[in-house]
This record gives sequence, structure tokens and C-alpha cells, in this order.
Amino acid sequence: MERSVLITRLVPDPAPEMLRAAADRFTMNPADRPLEPAELIRSVPGHSAVLCQLTDRIDRSVLEAARGCRLIANMAVGFNNIDVEAATELGILVTNTPGVLTEATADLTWALILAVARRVVEGDAVMRAEAFPGWGPLYMLGAEVSGSTLGLVGPGRIATAVARRAVGFGMRLLYHGRRPNPELDTLGARLVELDELLAESDFVSLHVPLTDQTHHLIDATRLARMKPTAYLINTARGPVVDESALVEALRAGRIAGAGLDVYEREPKMADGLADCPNTVLLPHLGSATRKTRGAMAAMAAENILALWRGQKPPNLVNPDAWSPEHEGRV
Ligand code: DGY
Repeated sequence: MERSVLITRLVPDPAPEMLRAAADRFTMNPADRPLEPAELIRSVPGHSAVLCQLTDRIDRSVLEAARGCRLIANMAVGFNNIDVEAATELGILVTNTPGVLTEATADLTWALILAVARRVVEGDAVMRAEAFPGWGPLYMLGAEVSGSTLGLVGPGRIATAVARRAVGFGMRLLYHGRRPNPELDTLGARLVELDELLAESDFVSLHVPLTDQTHHLIDATRLARMKPTAYLINTARGPVVDESALVEALRAGRIAGAGLDVYEREPKMADGLADCPNTVLLPHLGSATRKTRGAMAAMAAENILALWRGQKPPNLVNPDAWSPEHEGRV
């Protein structure tokens, strides 16, 4: 196997050097923008590994065009941008970057909880507009975070890191998932059905991967189950929420507000969302710290280097596609 890699978009150090030093052939899109679908199809053939981003749609047509490709290393923990079933069928390995972005994403979840509940962005706009009328007992009241109930949808690493922070705020913790998470249980969180979580929580925070089962998990019916005083927080994937239904719920005051980092049709937002004052809207920044993005790129590169050494890449999401024949091919 030729040690040949395509990096679909500029990524932070040290990943490019790690790969360049070991590669027979090294190609990196020099532009800080995603490749167009046609460019991607033209660029992938002939590379044994592709380091890609969540903005690259790696569908069957790209995978079939990727002649000679053994590994798609996604620089993200979520891999809904890749047709993993097709990759497995074609014998192409897929890896992701679990763990390294947990703390950064949990921090940003908390930034959204505090910002939307305490009207931080609205308050900042008032000051910049020199529109502060002076302190008042009824002025710009928000919701109390400390002591409230946080409902975590999804029992994984990021939900657990969000829960650890919630302990400091004296919050009651609920979570929903297919199976118990002992660490969440130790933090005092209670595993409940989704409907109970929605009905009881003051903050509902989403931490599920995007799959066929979680697409529009939060739709009009589920939004209606939330308390009118509750906030929805999404740092997972946009399509987990029916965004048009969310706009309706926000407009009608069926929920108090939303803190969003991800959108159904990124980089676009549903019509009307930006006009809802009870929202804090961020441009998919969950993992966007220098340290975390560097670690994500390095982890993706490590997976490629393992393949080139004839070893099983450590972060395989389709272990079924691994066969001992991969070993020793280099
Ligand atoms: C991920 O890794 O899935 C994040 O959304 C990237 O920021």
C-alpha cells in the first residue's frame, strides 16, 4: 500500500507534519474551505487514506471513486457525514476522534446554558447600543440556573462532562439513554424516559449522535412536552431537532428559549430563528479551541499512521471492515 494521504482542508499542527514525515505522497487542500463535492470525487482516488471533516459528505459515490482507499479518518467524533455502511461494504475503514473534544464541548454547552438563561448576549447588545436605562428590580430578568433541573438526552462522554459541571451548580440531574451510565449515576443523575425528562427539566441538553433514530428526535410533539419555562440546548447535531418546529415553539412561547451550536441545514438556519430574541446562536464552536482542534487532527493522523504501520487504527467505528489482511500491506 502506498503511504498516500489526502487532507481535504487545512488542519492545525502537528497533524500535517506527522503525516508528511511518514507519507510517500502528501496532499492537503491548501484552502481553508471544504472541497466541492465534484472536487472531492476528483481528489480522493489513489490515496490510501483520507483525513476529512464533518463538512465533507463522504457518500457512496465518493467511496466508490476512492480507488485504493483503505481509511477515511474523520476529524470529528460524529461521523454522520460518512456512509459507514457503504464504507464497510467496500472494505474501507472509518475512524473518528472520541474523547479529545469532550471537555471543550461540555464547556461550550455550559456557555450556552448560562448565556441563554441569564440573557448574556441581549445584555451585551444593550450596553453596546448605549441603551442601559440603569438598574431596575424588574429589569432583564432571566432564569436561575443554580438548583434547577438539567435533563441530558444521551448518556455518553459529553453528557457526563456536562453533568460533572452541573454538580457545582447544585442541579438535579436527569438523563435519558438506552442503558445506565454508572458515572452519571455516581453524580446523582437519574435515568428516566425521554417524556419524563422533557416534562421535568428546566434545561434539556442534547448529546446524542445523529442517526436515523435520532433524526428529529425533538419535534413539535416533544417540544410541547417541555415546560414553558424550559430551555433547549443543542451542541450535538442540528437535525436531531426539527428546527422549523423549534422556531414555532419559540415564537409561541411554548418554551422559554434555546441555546444552539448546531443547525439542521448548516451553515444555514431555519427561517425566523435569528429573529427569536430568546435564543443564543453559535456557529458550531463546540470543539473550537486551539488545543482541542490540534488534538482532533492529531488523533485522525494517528489512525492513519497506525494503518500505514499495518496496525489496527485505534478509533475504528466500523471494526467489521478490519481484517488481518490489512496488516502487512504496507
Ligand atoms: C464533532 O467532533 O462531532 C464536533 O461536532 C466537531 O466540532
